[in-house]
Amino acid sequence: MTEPSTRLMTGPHAGEHAPRLVSARKPLLHTRSASGDTRMPLPYTNGWFAVCFSHEVRPGALITVPFMGQDLVVYRTASGLLRVIEPYCPHLGAHLGHGGTIDGEHLTCAFHGLVFGPDGACVRACPGQTPPRTALTSRYAKEANGVVMVWRHSEDIPPEWDFPSLDLDDRIYPQYGQRELDGYGDAVGENSVDMIHFGSLHGLTEAAMTHEMEQHTLTVSISARWKGKRLNMRLTNFGLGHTRAENEMPEFGLRVTTLVYATPIAPLRWTFRWIDIPSVARFDGWPSPARKLAYRVLNPMAHRWLISFSSEDMPFWRTRAFLKRPALMAGDRSIAAFRRWSAQFYPATPPGDADTEPVLRASAER
Ligand code: FES
Ligand SMILES: [Fe+2]
Repeated sequence: MTEPSTRLMTGPHAGEHAPRLVSARKPLLHTRSASGDTRMPLPYTNGWFAVCFSHEVRPGALITVPFMGQDLVVYRTASGLLRVIEPYCPHLGAHLGHGGTIDGEHLTCAFHGLVFGPDGACVRACPGQTPPRTALTSRYAKEANGVVMVWRHSEDIPPEWDFPSLDLDDRIYPQYGQRELDGYGDAVGENSVDMIHFGSLHGLTEAAMTHEMEQHTLTVSISARWKGKRLNMRLTNFGLGHTRAENEMPEFGLRVTTLVYATPIAPLRWTFRWIDIPSVARFDGWPSPARKLAYRVLNPMAHRWLISFSSEDMPFWRTRAFLKRPALMAGDRSIAAFRRWSAQFYPATPPGDADTEPVLRASAER
């Protein structure tokens, strides 16, 4: 209950701090918006999501990764086969990320020594024991563009759609970045269609945006100027976990492809990964050693420049709330389209109470 002269103020993470009363005359910091929305976790969404870079799992390696409120174990056999599995051994539940080892094509649980073959089946037990008829639980996984992607569906439906792999073989020195952030992974996709922020936050001028939607992809094309120079961007969202940005500054003959990955790992916690792949038209005719050297120098610089862009976004990604009924403006047309499109990736029957309903469905219906 609030007194007439007081307001109820909650901390930045509702539930973490006891509510306290403050004077109505003092400035107020609210997590509750004017429309009544709070910064609530959203349901985990369906689709393809990154769990690590391919180079983090060399042959013979086994790692544990956080993924949508649980752990997954990712390993690679000596021949290069990559597998993503549920972490618990089917014998007595040991976490295979703790002491599990890869020997050739097999994974051994450290607790009682059961051995699992490359298809996941239990093939061996310790001396004197017969291996139980059991197997590891696999997740649908795919490696593309140097990233390990896992399919997630709230109803365990196998992959229903795919996303393209780029041929990175002829590219040189792709630049990798990763951050673990508070907030909503969905912010990245929405950021890609947020035309107004490209001007107000990133300083682009003369920005114009169009969008096209097709089932699981939503693409926006943006033409703008950055410090007076022409900048063309084409941002394609493949579900809510992966965005491909193709940025071009024609006056410099510079193109940068940035592959962006957003993976929810816990309520209001997500991992942001990205790969920058610059290419410069005038390098094309250069001899290979000179070209390599040029990219070796250029790419880290381009990477830092691009980080400076996303660094402007990150404070907002970390702290914003997802409003069910945002007060959209005329320039937010692509955001409205994005919210209608993104509703397909939320579970049909969201878990929990009404507060965790898929977001934006309400705004999409407006
Ligand atoms: S729990 Fe893995 S072998 Fe027993
Ligand atoms: Fe941005």
